[in-house]
Amino acid sequence: MTPSISATHFLFLLLILSSSIAYSQQDEAFFVKKSMDKKLLGLETEQLSHLRLYWHDVLSGENPTSIEIVPPISDKFISGFGYIRMIDNALTEEQDRSSKLLGRAQGLYASASQDKVALLMAMNFVFTSGKYNGSSISLYGRNPWLENVRELSVIGGSGLFRFARGYATLHTVEIDIAKGNAVVEYNIYIFHYADSIALF
Ligand SMILES: *[C@@H]1O[C@H](CO)[C@@H](O)[C@H](O)[C@H]1NC(C)=O
Repeated sequence: MTPSISATHFLFLLLILSSSIAYSQQDEAFFVKKSMDKKLLGLETEQLSHLRLYWHDVLSGENPTSIEIVPPISDKFISGFGYIRMIDNALTEEQDRSSKLLGRAQGLYASASQDKVALLMAMNFVFTSGKYNGSSISLYGRNPWLENVRELSVIGGSGLFRFARGYATLHTVEIDIAKGNAVVEYNIYIFHYADSIALF
């Protein structure tokens, strides 16, 4: 008697187990399309490119592109801890603001350090000219802007910059302390899958 009961139990357990495996396989298969061919998305050859752009942070004048949306928490912190600025800054080919406009840096930066001067930056560089018009790269990271060279991460991209990854070095080439304006050179090194970058 006893052995046949445990055999029944065993079969019953097996049935539950196998049906739950079948369900989980079914669930997975339902939304995960496996083993996609990279060629279908034009992702055959990854390349490394260097882009150089000039970022214009304009706080003053009639048409500022960098606007404070949250003021500092208090005047207790020399770093202005807590302030947030929204930006739609011009990105040009040369340091001169009137040189060719390549795109815009859209996003925000915030004072994220209490005892040091350091910003949290989150931006999309959206290109507005030529082949890369409409494509973008996303940058994110820490910017202790008083230092000579800073570094941000390229965390992704869209359009011709899909699957982009890499980093950017930032170097301030012009600063007007009274007005708060600055021009920063961005050298961006990215892996991506598009054709060669003729623009830069
Ligand atoms: C960029 O794309 C937009 C939207 O498709 C278009 O209106 C604009 O004329 C394009 N600019 C250039 C310079 O090709």
